[in-house]
Amino acid sequence: GELLAWTGEKQSVISPIHLRDGEGRLLPVTLGSVPVGGIPEADAALAAAVGAYDNGRGAWPTMRVADRITCMLDFIRQMVARRSEIVRLIMWEIAKSLPDAEKEFDRTVDYMRATVDAVRNLDNENSRFQIVEGTIGQIRRTPLGVVLCMGPYNYPLNETFATLIPALIMGNTLVFKPPRFGVLLFEPLLEAFRSAFPAGVVNFVYGKGAEIVPHLLESGKVNALTLIGSSKVADHLKKLHPKTNRLRAILGLDAKNAAIVLADADLELAVKECLAGALSFNGQRCTALKMLIVHRSIVDRFLQRFTEELAKLRIGMPWDKGVSITPLPDRAKAEYMMACVEDAVAKGARVVNEGGGDEVETLFRSAVVYPVAEGMKLYREEQFGPIVPVMPFDDIETALDYVITSEHGQQVSIFSTSADDIGTLVDPLVNQVCRVNINCQCQRGPDILPFTGRKDSAEGTLSVTDALRSFSIRSMIAAKQTEPSKK
Ligand code: G3H
Repeated sequence: GELLAWTGEKQSVISPIHLRDGEGRLLPVTLGSVPVGGIPEADAALAAAVGAYDNGRGAWPTMRVADRITCMLDFIRQMVARRSEIVRLIMWEIAKSLPDAEKEFDRTVDYMRATVDAVRNLDNENSRFQIVEGTIGQIRRTPLGVVLCMGPYNYPLNETFATLIPALIMGNTLVFKPPRFGVLLFEPLLEAFRSAFPAGVVNFVYGKGAEIVPHLLESGKVNALTLIGSSKVADHLKKLHPKTNRLRAILGLDAKNAAIVLADADLELAVKECLAGALSFNGQRCTALKMLIVHRSIVDRFLQRFTEELAKLRIGMPWDKGVSITPLPDRAKAEYMMACVEDAVAKGARVVNEGGGDEVETLFRSAVVYPVAEGMKLYREEQFGPIVPVMPFDDIETALDYVITSEHGQQVSIFSTSADDIGTLVDPLVNQVCRVNINCQCQRGPDILPFTGRKDSAEGTLSVTDALRSFSIRSMIAAKQTEPSKK
């Protein structure tokens, strides 16, 4: 297919990781290059996807589910053979620690295998006929058409494939725009895409997303949009489709997950979970804890223990053993972190530890900011990085109000040793967010469980089976039951 629809011009991919030369100067590292795509290349990719779908008559949408599974298993086999190369690229492109990059790869392969298992259990052409009130029906899960896929930089392989793979196996054809950070890692997979699936089924587009993606949507030829990214971008893009209301959107968007630590919480457990929740992969997870709301009676002790444990986290390069805090993907992100901290400090908060920027331009040492209050950037903005905003509360209503009045609605964590208190909080909270975590951090997995959000945090649900449903339509073949003819 049009896997590499581009004119020939290429641009360099620079790693956020800087290395020192012989004289101790920090130098950027060029990892390779990717095509510079534009509108003509995007048009060619879209035309290939539309052609391969062929209004549902193409080889892929009409292929038996069992045969699509065979193609997918072939792809998985080829992908597994390129593990070390892909893991290294994840590490170098987004500065994810080596163990986390390995986890990302392995989790993705597990997800794909689970998808194959789940697709066998969905309604398909082998499903049994049902007779309902004289109608004989066979339900079939059928594709949507052309799906435009975009993944995020923080899980460039895993979260991209969490939508791309289910969309693909359900018989859709794809136009895929890789993330800006996390683009080279797909190169070792191009040959596998090319050989495992029919021509035109998977089509990569490169170049400026802000130019290409609106153009693709304006064409009206995209049937579904899937994006893990910002709600602002998603809202803008959806409106560009000439039939906005007909465009199916499967979206994983912003979040501002809070942890509410009650006075009777197991403090050590709360510190451990909040630390991991706020700072795994530098806080660059949509599920990360972005606000810690701690009861005033324990907030000093909490901050002391939290900062003591934080001080033990190793800052460095992704290949350093036991590293936790690694560089951010670009200078702009580090500057945004700095601006968030400065804004809070100017409005009366302080940095409790010694967090802040570093001489390695993209490295930002985690900063614990207290007390964060309304009116500060950190109060509502999703600081997608290693800042830990903390605010005290006296009355549980204040903590609940923070969650209820938020524009986001993904998850929340509650820390308490009282079953009664937890019980009282769970019901109002589960109607505000889509996952309430009790005495543990917020997170996405296990991947067979639903993952979504309310308000500005998501549209549609992701999980192994939910994603298969999201990228298909439950159609049926029906006939009227007739009386057996009497001779
Ligand atoms: O960026 C959002 C991811 O879906 C977070 O996933 O909780 O497994 O790290 P995770």
